[in-house]
Amino acid sequence: MPIKRTALITGASAGIGKTFAAYLAKEGYQLVLVARRMDRLNDLKHALELQYQTRVEVISADLSDPLTPAHILEEIEHRGMSIDFLVNNAGYSKNQPFAEAAWIEHANEIQVMITAVTELAYRVLPNMKARSWGRIINLSSLAAFAPPTTSMLYTGIKSYVLNFSQALDMELKPHGIHVTALCPGFTFTEFHDVMGTRAQANKLPNVLWMQSEEVVKAGFDAVMKGKPVCIPGLVNKTIASGSKILPEALRYRLGRDSHLFD
Ligand SMILES: NC(=O)c1ccc[n+]([C@@H]2O[C@H](COP(=O)([O-])OP(=O)(O)OC[C@H]3O[C@@H](n4cnc5c(N)ncnc54)[C@H](OP(=O)(O)O)[C@@H]3O)[C@@H](O)[C@H]2O)c1
Repeated sequence: MPIKRTALITGASAGIGKTFAAYLAKEGYQLVLVARRMDRLNDLKHALELQYQTRVEVISADLSDPLTPAHILEEIEHRGMSIDFLVNNAGYSKNQPFAEAAWIEHANEIQVMITAVTELAYRVLPNMKARSWGRIINLSSLAAFAPPTTSMLYTGIKSYVLNFSQALDMELKPHGIHVTALCPGFTFTEFHDVMGTRAQANKLPNVLWMQSEEVVKAGFDAVMKGKPVCIPGLVNKTIASGSKILPEALRYRLGRDSHLFD
């Protein structure tokens, strides 16, 4: 029996991460699932092990703790596994004025979506390089292409993830490692509930929304083909292209006046 490849997915207790877990199990991967809500991870583990006869390990971890990425990789080694496929997915957005939030909230956002993303990629690379095979998907967002928005640390964070993924892909392609920034637009998950903007999000037209299954399939296909950037869906692709050609002053005004989640 061929040895199965192993995928590490952060933020697997809900939304896009949970969908990635099911997709990669179906594709024949063993899984390591990370999030804070252990009850949800355990339910998912049992369901996927039963359905796909694959090994699923769960690790309860808070990625806002700077020690977490190293701890996750130690735990994986301890369980006799090593990572071939990383999905850096855990994330969220706050909807509050920058100057009014406590610093710890900004520090946590940066830790979860920039530092942990970067460190986990760094820590899985030695084994991927040794095997001359690896796949990394980093969840960016359509927000990385859209105009900067009032009070949102999030657009800057996702711009970093986009840029970092492209740079990493350039360095690692010659080693058989593909890196893709997956940049979804509005996707049906718990994201807007956590952000506290569900009522506003529900008013957006249907055409702007995608199912997490479509997003995950697009991201998986892109990383396997070696595409460094994946914007799923025609509508999102059109928004990203349109936004790129706008003059900077107009982008600024659009961002300032959009009041998307006020
Ligand atoms: N949905 C959208 O419209 C959309 C659009 C563009 C990009 N994205 C990106 O897609 C990714 C997934 O979001 P989603 O839409 O699937 O949201 P979601 O349904 O709210 O899921 C977020 C996941 O992140 C985990 N997470 C959050 N904070 C964490 C922490 N401190 N430590 C460990 N895990 C943490 C959550 O698990 P626990 O709470 O159990 O820890 C959960 O599993 C995010 O990076 C998001 O920025 C989403």
